[in-house]
Amino acid sequence: MTENDREMTGNAGEKTGDDGEMTDNDPGVTDKDDLRTADGEPPAPTASKPPQRPQPPPPTDRSPLLDVRDLRVEFHTRDGIAKAVNGVNFTVAAGQTLAVLGESGSGKSVTAQAVMGILDSPPGFITGGEIFFHGRDLLKLGKEERRKVRGAKMAMIFQDALSALNPVLSVGAQLGEMYIVHEGMSRKAARGKAVELMERVGIPAAEARVGDYPHQFSGGMRQRIMIAMALALEPDLIIADEPTTALDVTVQAQVMDLLAELQREFTMGLILITHDLGVVADVADTIAVMYAGRIVETAPVHQLYKAPAHPYTRGLLDSIPRVDLKGQELYAIKGLPPNLTAIPPGCPFNPRCPRARDICRTDLPPLYEAGPGRASACHFWKETLDAAGQ
Ligand SMILES: Nc1ncnc2c1ncn2[C@@H]1O[C@H](COP(=O)(O)OP(=O)(O)OP(=O)(O)O)[C@@H](O)[C@H]1O
Ligand code: SF4
Ligand SMILES: [Mg+2]
Repeated sequence: MTENDREMTGNAGEKTGDDGEMTDNDPGVTDKDDLRTADGEPPAPTASKPPQRPQPPPPTDRSPLLDVRDLRVEFHTRDGIAKAVNGVNFTVAAGQTLAVLGESGSGKSVTAQAVMGILDSPPGFITGGEIFFHGRDLLKLGKEERRKVRGAKMAMIFQDALSALNPVLSVGAQLGEMYIVHEGMSRKAARGKAVELMERVGIPAAEARVGDYPHQFSGGMRQRIMIAMALALEPDLIIADEPTTALDVTVQAQVMDLLAELQREFTMGLILITHDLGVVADVADTIAVMYAGRIVETAPVHQLYKAPAHPYTRGLLDSIPRVDLKGQELYAIKGLPPNLTAIPPGCPFNPRCPRARDICRTDLPPLYEAGPGRASACHFWKETLDAAGQ
């Protein structure tokens, strides 16, 4: 098996955080624990019992496919400890598409790497949280067991197919190797499967091209090949990290449509990481917006577009170029995301937020419930929603 195959099937444990995880057994205060009521009231104080660690749910068909709880990741750098992921919670069900959105450096890829078990460690360390996949916490499993549970059931699609694919092996050999290694197929049968997969992802003349090398394909076709690699072992979950960013707009739409179609056909869970709000509108069910390593808003996709409940999401939406406003200056959120070695106190977005008030500079907003299936980490989520006309 090539290193590449291991990456694609999530078996990259050897070079990953599997060795370096410093899983903290103290759950601390999670965003979920800290969920407040819709009118913003903190929960009433309770008796002085020590906080109970949430019990893992039994693995039933009703459990979400993936349930990430209070995930925390730090990088030990020369400038100090960069807190890249700071208590992230989300779930993905079979057949659901979750889009994860946020500016560069907000922790999207690091979250994905932690889930896949391909975090660079050191310098990255998982310092807390749980990652339930099919009801089992991947962070509590030994290396081998984790590899088996995750094994062929999770796959990742990267932005840059050329560097993710092996340049010195034909695409047919790379696709076929998945079947030879994981399913013990003969070389001939594996080649047949490779052609089948290439046809399924829309590579023209697949039979004739199965012996071609990655550099002989266009960017869009290479991305399709990477999707084929990810699909080969029929995973339950695919994480696509900026899968279309390097492509031109028309090809982007085609690749995105293909991904959405395959996701429906195979009833997979899909996590789609992007910083392009335009890309996700048609394919995602739910959106999670990340800022400085936290999810600051989560909502069903159409509700979020119609009326965001967090000023950062409002800013992202206002930054999308609009044809009807041609000629007008494009809105940009002022300032820069915080340095992750020195995240400001209070709300991390406060130095850039047009709604910031005194409380925002001192109190970290918990994730407030902001309607059915919606949450916002903003003290003033209600007025943000109201301003959007809801
Ligand atoms: N290998 C690394 N070494 C040190 N710090 C890292 C490393 N990888 C990530 N980080 C830290 O984690 C932060 C989040 O990185 P991540 O790659 O998750 O951002 P992202 O949201 O995926 O951004 P982009 O949209 O640019 O891909 C970075 O800003 C950086 O501080
Ligand atoms: S909590 Fe305050 S600073 Fe943070 S997003 Fe809301 S209004 Fe802005
Ligand atoms: Mg990234």
